[in-house]
Amino acid sequence: MTFEEAKAVLESNGQGHVLRFWDKLDATGQAALLAQIATLDFAAIGRMQAMLKDAGKPAAAAGTFEPAPVEAPEGDEKAVYHAKGEELLRAGKVAALLVAGGQGSRLGYDGPKGAYPIGPISDRPLFWFHARKLLGLKQTYGAPVPFYIMTSETNDAATRAVFEANDYFGLDRAGVFFFVQGMWPALDPEGKIILDKPGHIFMSPDGHGGTLAALDRSGALADMAKRGIEQVFFFQVDNPMVDIADPTFVGLNATKGADMSLKVCKKRDAHEGMGVVVIRDNTYAMVEYSELSDEQMERTNPDGSLWLAYGSPAIHMFSRAFLQAEAERPMPLHLAHKKIAMVNDAGETVKPEKPNGYKFEKFIFDVIPNAKTLLTMAFDRTQEFSPVKNAEGNDSPATTKRDLQAKWRGWLAQAGVTLPEGTPVEIDPAYALNAEQLKAKGILIG
Ligand code: UTP
Repeated sequence: MTFEEAKAVLESNGQGHVLRFWDKLDATGQAALLAQIATLDFAAIGRMQAMLKDAGKPAAAAGTFEPAPVEAPEGDEKAVYHAKGEELLRAGKVAALLVAGGQGSRLGYDGPKGAYPIGPISDRPLFWFHARKLLGLKQTYGAPVPFYIMTSETNDAATRAVFEANDYFGLDRAGVFFFVQGMWPALDPEGKIILDKPGHIFMSPDGHGGTLAALDRSGALADMAKRGIEQVFFFQVDNPMVDIADPTFVGLNATKGADMSLKVCKKRDAHEGMGVVVIRDNTYAMVEYSELSDEQMERTNPDGSLWLAYGSPAIHMFSRAFLQAEAERPMPLHLAHKKIAMVNDAGETVKPEKPNGYKFEKFIFDVIPNAKTLLTMAFDRTQEFSPVKNAEGNDSPATTKRDLQAKWRGWLAQAGVTLPEGTPVEIDPAYALNAEQLKAKGILIG
């Protein structure tokens, strides 16, 4: 893109100010700015500007809906799904899709969140736990589970470096596919693109919903097709308890021919900040925590249980065909009012005291209404969910380490080993993926 082309496209979209420091930039700075301008999607920016008129209004009420029915397969039914999932795993038809492009701002860790040391004894990183589970699956079923990892421009190089430095945690590197999500500019309240330096447009990742377009653009979807993948297990980087490609969940989605299935768990309390899967106007949808009234959150059934008992921790199954179809469809945008460092007319970067601009994101759960068949499956959060979101308090490294160890202590107890209270515990997922494997293999205490 030349300067003249950039100027023309910016001015025709009312964004000429992006070039206002052009003459002060050196040749490298000018080239970098032109490269950034070339990535801008002005159709999307137009949609963002249109959304600004509703900015500041309280979140729309979720309206009338019913909680979605929850599957909790047991006994013979569960065995059927489990066998189907195992068959698909043995045939190499299952992939793992990890979204790891987030900024981890609440945790405040300097580096990709997946590099955060979470092993209670070893300090091994989140990525280690995920990768070792994939290794465990390959050992169990004899076929690899290809690993698709979404990064963002901000953490892509650092993420790859972590995998390199750890020899891919023992995985075959040909089965690990990194792909980078899109970045979007932020807008000020007048709809102008925000510069954070004289020659630089502030950009941030386009949300976990950016996965679909990025899967397509990067060739990851084509790669899945080439490998004969039929079922894709989707998960987030911050939960080292996740049961990756749980055969029952894989088999449920496949047996029912579903486009998508979501794992759901009992909420900690009525106000836990989780989205809930609902049926509204005969269509499945996710209702975000911010859209629920206190009355809806606190409502109880006649037996005293919560009406909205289950929340979604973003553990999903997708059919590959559905991902492919959705990748070609535009997704809705969501806006968030944020503090964004911004250059002033003197060319100095100023950190605001109050939110001064809007970031835009796509959310993966916006595909839910498009699924022809969709299921939700209950799981036990003490076994599968304890995310690292915050630096302290709930959902922090301390609670995750506590929950990991409680789970492993339970596995050890099932294998006949009771440790004195407070003994630190850590189990390599490549040694045992679950209590049964641990019992069958015997216990190594190192
Ligand atoms: P979160 O919003 O919980 O985590 O995203 P975050 O972005 O890492 O942390 P905060 O909100 O800034 O504190 C949930 C999952 O979605 C991924 C994250 O990496 C995490 O696995 N994600 C989020 C992306 O891959 N891209 C995004 O643009 C946003």
